[in-house]
Amino acid sequence: MVHQTESKHGMWSSRLMFIFAAAGSAVGLGNIWRFPYLAGENGGGVFVLAYLGCIALIGLPILISEILLGRAGRQSPINAMVALADVSKVSRNWQVIGWMGALAGFMILSFYAVIAGWAMAYVLEMMSGRFVGVDPVQAAASFETFIGDPFQVVAWQTGFMMLTIAIAARGVGRGLEVTVRYLMPALFFLLVALVIYSAVTTGRFVEGLAFLFQPDFERFNSSSLITAMGQAFFTLSLGMGAIMAYGAYMPKGSSIVGTAATIAILDTSVALMSGLVIFPLVFANGLESSAGPGLMFITLPIAFGQMTGGQVFGTAFFVLVSFAAITSSISLLEPAVAWVVEKTSLGRAKAASLVGGIAWLLGLGSALSFNLGADWTLPNGFNFFDTMDYVSNNILLPLGGILIAVFAGWRLSDATLQDQMREDQGSFALWRFLTRFLAPFGVLIVFIVTIF
Ligand code: PHE
Repeated sequence: MVHQTESKHGMWSSRLMFIFAAAGSAVGLGNIWRFPYLAGENGGGVFVLAYLGCIALIGLPILISEILLGRAGRQSPINAMVALADVSKVSRNWQVIGWMGALAGFMILSFYAVIAGWAMAYVLEMMSGRFVGVDPVQAAASFETFIGDPFQVVAWQTGFMMLTIAIAARGVGRGLEVTVRYLMPALFFLLVALVIYSAVTTGRFVEGLAFLFQPDFERFNSSSLITAMGQAFFTLSLGMGAIMAYGAYMPKGSSIVGTAATIAILDTSVALMSGLVIFPLVFANGLESSAGPGLMFITLPIAFGQMTGGQVFGTAFFVLVSFAAITSSISLLEPAVAWVVEKTSLGRAKAASLVGGIAWLLGLGSALSFNLGADWTLPNGFNFFDTMDYVSNNILLPLGGILIAVFAGWRLSDATLQDQMREDQGSFALWRFLTRFLAPFGVLIVFIVTIF
C-alpha cells in the first residue's frame, strides 16, 4: 500500500469538488463540437447507442481505474505509476503509462488551444452582431477569413494558453478548484438555457430528439462503431493520465464507482444536450447536420443570426464552449505540471509556464495548418493539425487505456486495490471483470481497426 493520504500539490476540498473538476475535464470541445457532428455523420440513433454502450462498458471501468490509480499513488501519473509498481512488486516499466500520457497531453493540448481560441474569438464575433441576418455564404466566408489569418489565430491560441497557464500556476486549490467551482455551474445553467431557447424558438425539439435517438442503419457501418468508441475515450478524458492526476487530489473515504458514474452521466448528458441545442437550430434553418468543424463555427452563427435573441444566445453559446474548453485544458496540463514540480525545484508557476510554453510552441503547427502551413501535409493529405489529432486520439489514448486497464485489473497489489475499493464492495466483481477482459479487449479492437 502507498501510505500517503495527501498529495503535496494540494487536495480538492470535497468529493463534490472532485466531481466538478473531473466533469470539467471530461466536458469540453469533445461534447459540444465533436459529438454532435459525429452523430450527424454516423446516422444519429445507432451511433448514439453505440457511444452510450462504449461509455458504460469500456469508458466507465477505465475511468474508475484511473481515479483509483491516481488516488492510490497521490502523485503525478509518472511517479504514481513508479510508486504503484513498487508496492505491487512489478516492473517499473509501467511508468510508460505516465510518459505516453504526458506526450498525448502535450499533443492534445497543442491543438485544443487552437480550437478553443476560435471559440473565444467567436464570443466577440457573435457579440458584435456581425452575424445578424447573415446567409450561409457570408458565414462560411467570414469563418474562412478568420482561420486564414495566422495573426488572429495565433493571438487567440496564445490568449487561451496564457489563461490555462495562469490557472494552473495558482495551484490545485486556488487555481483549478476555484475555476471549476464557478464555471461548472455556469456551464450547466447556460446549457439548460440554450436547450430551452433552441426548443422554444425553433419548435423542432422533437426532431432533434428523434435525430439523436432514431436509428438510421443505412449510415452506420463498422467504422461508425470505432468512431463511437474513440469518442467515448476522448470525451471522458481517458488514457492520458488527466483523470489520474485529478484522482491524486481526491479525498479518501468516498466511493470511486459512484463518483465515476456521476462524472460519466454528467459528461453524457452534456453531449446529448449539446445535440439538443444544435440540431433543432440546424433543422429549423435547413442547414447541413454533418458539416464537421463548420457545424459549430459556420452553421450555428447562421442559425443564431436568423433568430430572435440570436445575438445574445449565440454569444452565450460560445461563452459556454470557452468555459468547457478551459476546464478541460487545465486537466491536460496538470499531469506534466505535477511531474515537473515533483522532479525539479521549479515552483508551480514556472512549471506551468514551461509545460504550457512547450504545448503552445507545438500548437503553432496546428494554428498555421489553416493558413500559412496548409500545404505542409503528409503523403496521406494530413496537415499538422490532423496528424496531432489522429496520433493522440486514435493511437496514444487507446494504447494508454489498454495499459491502464491491464495494470489496474491484473498487476496492482491486492492490498492497494482493496484499500481503494473499500466503499465499493458491491460493484467490485463487476468492475474487475470489465477491467480485466472487456475494456482491454474492446480498446484493442478500436486500436487495431483504426490503424489498419
Ligand atoms: N474530454 C475533453 C473533451 O471532451 C478532452 C480531453 C481529452 C481532456 C483528454 C483531457 C484529456 O473536450
